[in-house]
Amino acid sequence: MEPKVVTVVSEKGGVGKTVISYGLSLAGLLRGLRVVAVDLSEGALTQTLGHVIGQPHVGDALLSPRRASSFVRPVRWAMPGPAPRGTLGVIGADPRLNIDLMSLDDLRAAMADLRMTADLVVIDNPPVCGNLGLIGLSVSMRAADRIVVVTDPDLQSIRLTGKTLGLALDAGVLDRVAGVVVCNARRPMTRVTRGVLDGLANSRLSFPTVVWNRAEWQAARTGEVFKSLSPDLCALAEALLDEVMGGWRCNPAARLAYANLEPRVKEAV
Ligand SMILES: Nc1ncnc2c1ncn2[C@@H]1O[C@H](COP(=O)(O)OP(=O)(O)OP(=O)(O)O)[C@@H](O)[C@H]1O
Ligand SMILES: [Mg+2]
Repeated sequence: MEPKVVTVVSEKGGVGKTVISYGLSLAGLLRGLRVVAVDLSEGALTQTLGHVIGQPHVGDALLSPRRASSFVRPVRWAMPGPAPRGTLGVIGADPRLNIDLMSLDDLRAAMADLRMTADLVVIDNPPVCGNLGLIGLSVSMRAADRIVVVTDPDLQSIRLTGKTLGLALDAGVLDRVAGVVVCNARRPMTRVTRGVLDGLANSRLSFPTVVWNRAEWQAARTGEVFKSLSPDLCALAEALLDEVMGGWRCNPAARLAYANLEPRVKEAV
């Protein structure tokens, strides 16, 4: 299998980029892949994977003449049962990193080096605040093979998802978007939420897998989740990995998984 660099993006904050980055990394590990997670964000992913924020970090990996792979910190397997066949490491967050000043050449060079020893590289990105972070987002998308756009099923988040797709179009990498992940969806759904999910399904941009709101994913912030993920959440992460890695493209038959779940619909007043 060709190594893949997957960048996980959203302009809106708090929609689940770190949760999805974590889930994809874990799924890769469970699959037996050699996975490297790269934390371009503020450090939640680094901490979730059991490391403190500090050197060596991604700023070193981007700017040092040393190989990027020498900055990978191993992630210890902390779940019960035998360790999976794969490996997982993280290049930790750099609190001083200004994402807009990150050079495309440096990021590409780091990715080229990581590809030599990894099957899957997952990049977690910060949100965009005003215009801050937009250039960095574009650079991150251009350095990746696949772009995963994460959205909450709320209107502001969807609007910003459209804007991010426009950014990918401007950067000439729209064809790498594969695709939109709906995260943090809640039951019972309001009519608005349901309408948004239907619209995304009909647009055929969204993956079939919806990452519903679950306490176990909330724990992703605490660093504890690695010890407690249930088999069905692992299966969900693996399904998402298949969709990301499997060259998923606007499939007319694509249907959001929620369509089969007969969710309770809360009528809006
Ligand atoms: N599917 C989910 N179920 C439960 N909690 C979730 C889910 N998705 C995200 N969360 C929670 O929502 C919060 C924000 O998620 P997360 O940190 O992954 O978002 P983010 O997009 O990375 O945020 P930021 O833009 O600040 O980096 C976290 O506390 C996370 O645990
Ligand atoms: Mg985050």
